[in-house]
Amino acid sequence: MKIKRVVAVYYSATGNTRRVVLNLAKQISEALGVASEEMNYAPPAVREKHYTFSAEDLVLFATPVYAGRVPNKMLPFVESGFSGGDALAVPVIIFGNRNFDNGLIELRNLLEQNGFHTIAAAAVATSHVFSDVIAPGRPDEADWAVLNRFAGDVASRVKALAEYPAPVEVPGDNPPTVYYTPLGVDGKPSMFLKAKPQTHEGMCDGCGLCVEACPMAAISEEDPTQVPGTCIKCQACVKICPTEAKYFADENFLSHVKMLELNYTARKEPQVFF
Ligand SMILES: Cc1cc2nc3c(=O)[nH]c(=O)nc-3n(C[C@H](O)[C@H](O)[C@H](O)COP(=O)(O)O)c2cc1C
Repeated sequence: MKIKRVVAVYYSATGNTRRVVLNLAKQISEALGVASEEMNYAPPAVREKHYTFSAEDLVLFATPVYAGRVPNKMLPFVESGFSGGDALAVPVIIFGNRNFDNGLIELRNLLEQNGFHTIAAAAVATSHVFSDVIAPGRPDEADWAVLNRFAGDVASRVKALAEYPAPVEVPGDNPPTVYYTPLGVDGKPSMFLKAKPQTHEGMCDGCGLCVEACPMAAISEEDPTQVPGTCIKCQACVKICPTEAKYFADENFLSHVKMLELNYTARKEPQVFF
């Protein structure tokens, strides 16, 4: 098929998804000899518009999983913010070395519903934003080797395609069912929906980087120590703060992080699907 443009569309609060998808887009666009573009829909203003693609586009659509699914606060935009226009698409799911559960099949279905044709897919384990000891340094060299091969295979497949293929087969419940319930160290559900970032006394210098980085526009511009809006625990504010002023103190949240550290440090390999 004649593709004229590769577009990396992604939500990435702390950069893992962005790194993976931009690398894939670079390699695939180079192999196809076409330009690549990117669109990050983490900033709320980006999610206020509608985006239309065409049959000359290959869209790499990437998101981290939150609770084993497409992040639910981003879902309305992923559901209705795009017209695929017969573009080819590659759903890419990033996960923090626990599991991607029904995230990939959910994203595959949403893209197909929006008029894209999914031709390949990937699920990539990266470091977990909640902890420095879960999959640190991922993706690493071994991951990039798999992803580079995947990029080459996607480009070859695109070149060889004579007609739109059936949706790519990926694992998961169809339709996707429940969200993953976070557990605490005692193995029981550990709910922390209302948790918000705290600010170490005297450490915030008011630079406003966290205000800009928050995908929910939840942090007060006048006083960044205050979080009047909805927090989705993405950790964008914690990671971007130059003085390391932000942290989470919620006991249920910390218990879930401990449980992940106790049970999910064993390496999960990237998986690719055609
Ligand atoms: C609220 C929330 C829920 C998450 N749920 C899962 C999960 O169910 N399974 C998993 O393996 N990783 C999970 N993660 C980890 C992220 O998918 C992972 O750290 C990813 O790299 C974050 O992407 P980003 O750096 O592009 O924001 C979760 C992260 C957050 C913030």
